[in-house]
Order: sequence, then structure tokens, then C-alpha cells
Amino acid sequence: MATLARDEPVRTVRRLWPADRNAVLDYFLRLDPETRASRFMGNVSEAGVRAYAEQAVKADGMMYGAFVEGVLRGLGELRPMAPCPSRYVLGPRAEAAFAVELAFRRRGLGADLFARIARAARHRGVVDLHVRCLSGNGPMLRLAAKHGAALQYAGSEIDGALHLERPTPFSLWYEGIAEAFDFSLAVSFPNRIGATA
Ligand SMILES: CC(C)(COP(=O)(O)OP(=O)(O)OC[C@H]1O[C@@H](n2cnc3c(N)ncnc32)[C@H](O)[C@@H]1OP(=O)(O)O)[C@@H](O)C(=O)NCCC(=O)NCCS
Repeated sequence: MATLARDEPVRTVRRLWPADRNAVLDYFLRLDPETRASRFMGNVSEAGVRAYAEQAVKADGMMYGAFVEGVLRGLGELRPMAPCPSRYVLGPRAEAAFAVELAFRRRGLGADLFARIARAARHRGVVDLHVRCLSGNGPMLRLAAKHGAALQYAGSEIDGALHLERPTPFSLWYEGIAEAFDFSLAVSFPNRIGATA
């Protein structure tokens, strides 16, 4: 659901839809090389990033965006780790990935995205939510640990695993409202302006 902070630039976190394609593409192309390397756990060319962004808006799972003054500055992805059992359920294991543009870090966008994604995962049948990153990625490791993820080393990578609680009738109702609100926001304030072809 959207979050607004007083005395700060207008900030919104909401689900991204196919109509946000241009904003998503522009966001991925704006990421600096270091952020790209951290996000994709290796170097990715501009063509690679473009191809990734194109498929990301259509792939199974969902994406959430953190907008500052109407521009997408942070993006979190939630992807099932096996084929989705249905349109509404992701299955018991899913993976999340995040990146926030360099100039917009340490303002809580990563934490907002993490919390939103964990909540969405919980309400789509996910029991274990994983976040993978390189072992030297202090910010991501701290962010995951702060949300209760158990960190496990696997060579140069770390897998953070978060065990999610089962939804309750109230939490399901709340998630439904948040999703409907997200959709209204996306329709009312579409972020489709972009230089991308
Ligand atoms: C990880 C990342 C998404 C965090 O985004 P962010 O918006 O800066 O994070 P927040 O401001 O919400 O910080 C949330 C918490 O993360 C941790 N954190 C974030 N940046 C940190 C830093 N530079 N050093 C130490 N801890 C940090 C802290 O625990 C922080 O909580 P605190 O502010 O109460 O100390 C961001 O650093 C990023 O985009 N990194 C590059 C991409 C990447 O590495 N993705 C991971 C692979 S999927």
C-alpha cells in the first residue's frame, strides 16, 4: 500500500503492472554498474538489462516499486521457485530481489519494499522466502537479517531464508484492500513517461 511521509518528498510503494513497463525499463537502465552487479550478482550489459526488464514485467510472480515524486527509484521482485500452482498462488518457496537507485538509498525504500514483498508472499502461499546476494553485500545482508532472515553461506553467495507466518482472515482482508488500492493508484497516476522504445 502507498506510504506517505510528512516533510519528505512524496513517496509511494505499490505493485507494478504491465502498464508500468516504460518506468520499469527506464529504472533498470538508470542503475549504475555497481548496483547492477550487486542486483544481478555479476556484470550485465545494457542489452542484458534491457532484455531482463522486458521479460520481468511479464514473468510469473510480481514486482513492487518505490516511487519518489512519481519516479520509480526502487524495485523489488517476488518470483516463485517452481511453476506457479495457480494465478493466485506462488507455491511454498519464492525468491525476492531488490535494488534502490544509489542516490535514493538509506531513506527506507529498501525496507518498505522488503516488508511489502514479504507480506505479498505470505498471502500467496509462500512459506519460505529466499533472498540471495554476494557474501560481501553488507547492506542487503543487514536488510535481510533485520527482517528476520536466517543467513546461510554457499561459497561466495549468501542465501537469506525467511519463514513466513500463515495468513489470518484479517491479514488476507488487509492484503486484498492494499492490492485494490495499489491498482487504483497505478490507474490514477500511471508512470508511463519514458525514453524507452
Ligand atoms: C540493499 C538495498 C536494496 C537497500 O536499500 P535502501 O533503500 O538503501 O535500504 P533502507 O534505507 O531501507 O535500509 C534498510 C536497512 O538495510 C540496512 N542497510 C541498508 N543500507 C546499508 C548500508 N549501506 N550499510 C549498512 N546497512 C545498510 C540497514 O539495516 C537498514 O536499516 P537502518 O537504516 O535502520 O540501519 C540497496 O543497498 C541496494 O539497492 N543495493 C544494490 C542492489 C543489491 O545489492 N541487491 C541485493 C541483491 S538482490
